[in-house]
Amino acid sequence: MQNILKKITTCKNLDELEKLKISILGKKSTLSAEFAKLKDLQGEEKKTLAAKLNEQKQSYTKAFEDKFKELEKAGFDEKMKENAQHFSFFDESLNNGALHPVMQTMDFIIEYFVSLNFSVEKGPLIEDDFHNFEALNLPKSHPARDMQDTFYFDDGRLLRTHTSPVQIRTMLTQKPPIRMITPGTVFRRDFDLTHTPMFHQVEGLVVEEGQRVSFANLKNILEEFLRYFFGDVKVRFRPSFFPFTEPSAEVDISCIFCKGCGCRVCKQTGWLEVLGCGVVDPNVFKFVGLSNVSGYAFGLGVERFAMLKHQIPDLRSLFEGDLRLLEQFR
Ligand code: PHE
Repeated sequence: MQNILKKITTCKNLDELEKLKISILGKKSTLSAEFAKLKDLQGEEKKTLAAKLNEQKQSYTKAFEDKFKELEKAGFDEKMKENAQHFSFFDESLNNGALHPVMQTMDFIIEYFVSLNFSVEKGPLIEDDFHNFEALNLPKSHPARDMQDTFYFDDGRLLRTHTSPVQIRTMLTQKPPIRMITPGTVFRRDFDLTHTPMFHQVEGLVVEEGQRVSFANLKNILEEFLRYFFGDVKVRFRPSFFPFTEPSAEVDISCIFCKGCGCRVCKQTGWLEVLGCGVVDPNVFKFVGLSNVSGYAFGLGVERFAMLKHQIPDLRSLFEGDLRLLEQFR
């Protein structure tokens, strides 16, 4: 009996175990033959043999069950190991992802301003009313708040509608001279061909002591930047309104599709609007407790820059995750 148990426990694989089981417990096994003898026996003799055979049968069956579990688990582990090895056999080039075109565009813009000594600042996506509106000269009842309708939390906080609150946060924590950009995600209640509820902006702010900074500096830096980004384009500044800048302007470039002749993309005007900017409103400086300083600020939509640069007709396609589009930007 010990011999047989040893055979079972040293079995190497499931096939072998199955064969062994048939030879030990099967119809043609010695054990079955022994059982068959019982019918010719009587009384005590029959009882003793029956008890012995049943005991053998039970311990073999149990040994087979244990061994079966053990081998099955080992096989599973082995398979897992094999699969893990297969993963490392993948051609690595197939696995490589790439930065999303919006992030590539953002990086391209950041690099430019960093090379001009701008620092890169960060701010929270969930803002309070003070930083997103109030300190930017947008009081509660101001109609300009409609331009930036957003998503509110019950406690009055909101998903920031622009990167401008980071201007406020930076001016509250750093002393001029300030020379910063802040890239990031912003949210508005908008959804159509040219608007998505979530998009990205890069904001810029320069603040110096005294009256050193003027609209001329702003014009200069943005013209240079737009030519760096779009190549040989004409740039024009159009008077506009933002509550936090005065004077304010919107900046257009000559249409890169028709070279200014007029087409569907520029709605026959020959111009494409690309960013908003202006000289920082004195009221904003009051809110952050700065006096005798001057500054300018600008803000741009990264998706719009990416669309124009790569001639993508529908903004929403940037958010669909379609590999046929994304793979063109490896
Ligand atoms: N925050 C403005 C917007 O989102 C853009 C802007 C930034 C305008 C800085 C002027 C100065 O529309």
